[in-house]
Amino acid sequence: LTNDPLVPLLDPDAVAEAAAEIFVATARAAARERGAFVACLCGGTTPRILYELLAGPPYSGQVPWDRTDVLFGDERSVPHDHPDSNFRMASEALLDHVRLPRDQIHPIPGSNPELAAASYEQELRELYAGQPWPGFDLLLLGVGTDGHTASLFPGTAALDETTRWVVGNYVPQLASWRVTLTLPALCHAQLILFLVTGEEKAPVVAEAFGGRPHAGTYPCERVLPVRGRREILLDRAAAKLL
Ligand code: 6PG
Repeated sequence: LTNDPLVPLLDPDAVAEAAAEIFVATARAAARERGAFVACLCGGTTPRILYELLAGPPYSGQVPWDRTDVLFGDERSVPHDHPDSNFRMASEALLDHVRLPRDQIHPIPGSNPELAAASYEQELRELYAGQPWPGFDLLLLGVGTDGHTASLFPGTAALDETTRWVVGNYVPQLASWRVTLTLPALCHAQLILFLVTGEEKAPVVAEAFGGRPHAGTYPCERVLPVRGRREILLDRAAAKLL
């Protein structure tokens, strides 16, 4: 499904609550059907409310954490204890507070980006042994005002990757390196769930998801499900120009 109904929710709290409901339902269904649930998390500021919600009642008790693996869609090139680390944010908001076995948490290494990418790809390939692409049960993604998602920034080399699952990606506009899952790795998720809130995202939302004409194609609109579905949770501010 790519013609998502873009019905906005009230505010960031409502988006986080809707996402928490989806997280729980997806986790329970995957655990029931396959005996395991794999969630791939995003970074940035938007998902923090969701992670904090999942860390406490009632949601924390509804997720089968013992059968859950947590992955990351991208990471900044910083150590795990750095304030910019996506892993640190997810740990502080969620992972440190739930009964998730440590060996089922898979952070992207905070080392040299190329080495980190190679070692993370190896880790994912072991988790998805024998499969051409990973098939996350749930992939959380955010969107930047420039249309980036994960660490696929406009104009960067990672966007052209067709075989690797994870790459180091130099982002000239940030003058820094990121590690990111590639488009084909992201597109094979069963449920691709975008969380987008705030008025500053309204222009990119209208163009990337709302059909408003624009030049080129934003990275976020290229994450289309090849075998699953996509849902986009917006608040009223982000949906303002739809
Ligand atoms: C990251 C992300 C990134 C993020 C967007 C939106 O590491 O920063 O995974 O793709 O989702 O930049 O970030 P905000 O939620 O902070 O607006």
